[in-house]
Amino acid sequence: MSFTVVIASDHGGFRLKQHVIEHLRSLGVVVQDLGPESSVRCDYPDYANLVCTAVQSAPESTLGVLVCGTGIGMSMTANKHAGIRAAVVSDAFSAKATREHNDCNVLCLGERVVGPGLACTLVETWLTAEFEGGRHQNRLDKMMAFDNRQS
Ligand code: RB5
Repeated sequence: MSFTVVIASDHGGFRLKQHVIEHLRSLGVVVQDLGPESSVRCDYPDYANLVCTAVQSAPESTLGVLVCGTGIGMSMTANKHAGIRAAVVSDAFSAKATREHNDCNVLCLGERVVGPGLACTLVETWLTAEFEGGRHQNRLDKMMAFDNRQS
């Protein structure tokens, strides 16, 4: 797969992050692990910020994956970054749809929600799906206009 994935977690998502990295590398995906290096307690916004900053300045073929206990804190934080369309998913239908319809560029997962096998399926499904454009592009343009809102 011709993608680069930038990935990070907090302590609640550390073990699942390691699983996902191993799986993606076995598929030939280039993975940049932005930490943490252990499951020592840390704050998810710090790691969401690292991944989102990397995705913001990278080509479109670079996507982000964020893992915490639920995926929720990561997705909330990620969506505060301009140009980021983050989604937390726990089923394959949503993982596919969030690329096809929402052009999701940061996938969020919850280690306390999904097991490692499902998580790898979700990431792979998301990576291999393609944005459909068309009527979805207009909706995306309206969504992304909020990035420039002043108040
Ligand atoms: C950490 O305990 C937990 O709050 C975090 O991993 C995440 O689930 C937050 O949304």
